[in-house]
Amino acid sequence: MPRQLFVTTALPYANAGFHIGHMMEYIQADTWVRFQRMRGVKVDFVCADDTHGAPIMIAAEKAGKTPQQFVADIAAGRKQYLDGFHISFDNWHSTDAPENHELARQIYRDLRDNKDGSLIETRTIEQFFDPEKNMFLPDRYIKGECPKCHAKDQYGDNCEVCGSVYAPTDLINPFSVLSGARPELKSSEHFFFKLSDPRCVAFLQEWTQDGKLQPEVANKIKEWFSVRTNPDGSTSEGLGDWDISRDAPYFGIEIPDAPGKYFYVWLDAPIGYLASIKNLLTQRGQSYDDYMANPRLEQYHFIGKDIVTFHTLFFPACLHFSGRKTPDNVFVHGFLTVNNDKMSKSRGTGLNPLKYLSLGMNAEWLRYYLAAKLSARNEDIDFNADDFMARVNSDLIGKFVNIASRAAGFLTKRFDGKLTTEFGGMGAAILADIRTESDAIAELYNTREFGKATREIMLLADKVNAYVDQHKPWDLAKDPANNEALHQVCSVLINAFAVLTRYLAPILPSLAQSVQSFVGLPMDQWDVDTDVVAIQPYQHLMQRVTPEQLDALFGVIEAVAPVEPAQAAIKKIVKATPITVSVDPNAPGGEALAPTIGIDDFAKIDLRIAAILNCEAVEGSTKLLRLTLDAGEKDDAGQPKTRNVFSGIASAYKPEDLVGKLTVLVANLAPRKMKFGVSEGMVLAASHGDEKSNPGIYILNPWPGAQPGMRIH
Ligand code: 2FM
Ligand code: ZN
Repeated sequence: MPRQLFVTTALPYANAGFHIGHMMEYIQADTWVRFQRMRGVKVDFVCADDTHGAPIMIAAEKAGKTPQQFVADIAAGRKQYLDGFHISFDNWHSTDAPENHELARQIYRDLRDNKDGSLIETRTIEQFFDPEKNMFLPDRYIKGECPKCHAKDQYGDNCEVCGSVYAPTDLINPFSVLSGARPELKSSEHFFFKLSDPRCVAFLQEWTQDGKLQPEVANKIKEWFSVRTNPDGSTSEGLGDWDISRDAPYFGIEIPDAPGKYFYVWLDAPIGYLASIKNLLTQRGQSYDDYMANPRLEQYHFIGKDIVTFHTLFFPACLHFSGRKTPDNVFVHGFLTVNNDKMSKSRGTGLNPLKYLSLGMNAEWLRYYLAAKLSARNEDIDFNADDFMARVNSDLIGKFVNIASRAAGFLTKRFDGKLTTEFGGMGAAILADIRTESDAIAELYNTREFGKATREIMLLADKVNAYVDQHKPWDLAKDPANNEALHQVCSVLINAFAVLTRYLAPILPSLAQSVQSFVGLPMDQWDVDTDVVAIQPYQHLMQRVTPEQLDALFGVIEAVAPVEPAQAAIKKIVKATPITVSVDPNAPGGEALAPTIGIDDFAKIDLRIAAILNCEAVEGSTKLLRLTLDAGEKDDAGQPKTRNVFSGIASAYKPEDLVGKLTVLVANLAPRKMKFGVSEGMVLAASHGDEKSNPGIYILNPWPGAQPGMRIH
């Protein structure tokens, strides 16, 4: 009986397209799934949109759509990414689908009615309420003055200026981010999952520490059993109960027997894994209950390191105590940085997956590059443009793809495409060497050590290339007396290429399919022993990546960009329209008015109110200040996201004068790599056209009441 696997990736929030971090996870999981399928394992690989929660509800309202329409529109954009990067999901579903509503409600009932005592309890808690919006406010929708350092515009749970953690009730002059109103404390009944119940603690201690999880993940979890941080920054012992309810209005699943109460999005999100597989099984006419009851079913979840608690504490406990199967493992990966910049989860700075595809860049370059960097450990990896080009061009194409092109022409022209099975002593030895590695490489794939697997495969490719260099088919071809040797060498090369293609097929499924037509053997099975008998005429398999493509992908990245004062930078965007700026002592501000533009031109520049959370001098620069800005942006988890902006205003301002102030940010300016880091936008400042006779730089500061994120129209 083949193994039966149920595999998922984390469900993305249905509020935006995918960023490169999503694609990395999908590529990692897809590579593993494809490998398992090649070995004859049956795999159901599913995902879904994570649709519920306050941020999506609010985003939908802003977009003038119902939440259902909003998430449907996002879902419609998924296919181009998934097909484009060859992600082989068997199903894509939604946490707002009926299966998920039913499953979440049933799991809740089973927890509530647990025969050894209910694991659900209700408590009345006090929370901030927005009297204008008529809704309770999640912490991140409340802002105010930090109680410790008095920085303005800090979020309800922590201060980004001094780093202190507190409860929203500690904020000075709190206000609702949604309406600006002063929030009121109001009590409400909430539902809790009793994670602190001794049954849960005992179960989770065993489940998380029995050796299945990655050691670094298990060790981190161990700490949570002894100490946890409370909302006010204090610490308590052991696991805390989990607040699983939210009050209406909320886009989510209504809690049974509790009108107006909804499950917190993180309760129903992982249940969405089950909803997606159930939906797939229904499409196939299979029973979900039978499928899940199969004792041989193995269930695996690929996730990022930021959502470990949900997957290793809450989700397994909910499943176990509702009488359901728990995951066999959770595979945790680190974050992806791009050219060493920490990637913003929401903006995905640097490498836009659709732009990558639209530039005609090969999805398998990225699959190969990421595979070469990935390991089984929960560690961050960096996408580096130079390294990417080297690995794709030198390794993937130079060492591997070229093996086929070096042999195919001779076989087609001289031997009618037929191969010999007489490989000669050395050829046979090389092939045996390559084939013997099959189990070791398979084990590396199975344990998700893709980087090690690609290194092993490239070492084998090196051996094959050494064999080519030693036997020089291009020299053999010069003399018909060497025909037999030429036939042998080229046959060895094509067989070696076929085996290496199988080894790389989980990473390069599309190339493997082309090779399948070329060598006439199935490339989607882990069979490395069958010889190739004949080939079809060779067609080019893969282009090299060019520096121009990478430049286009990242915008123009200069290793060290010239440092610009703010006003010069402003002139630069004005020029980019393209308009010339001329100094005119008689003109207002010493500068002639720019030619008239239409409203459409103006609308291209997205100006936003931004709060200066932090400001510091830049070591090595007398002109620049480094600003940390809040332009009201959030990541997919709804957490506040900041921007790093360099501004040439050091001559005019002390850093401490700017902290806590509001200003204006050019929010859609392409990120710019500077000597000191990446500048993610530009702040606006005024200056005279003739700087010499009229020095001074004046940063813009909006009228009180403007909120970070508001657009300037
Ligand atoms: O962090 C996130 O992007 C969540 N949407 C992941 C959910 S995973 C699962 F639990 F649904
Ligand atoms: Zn503070």
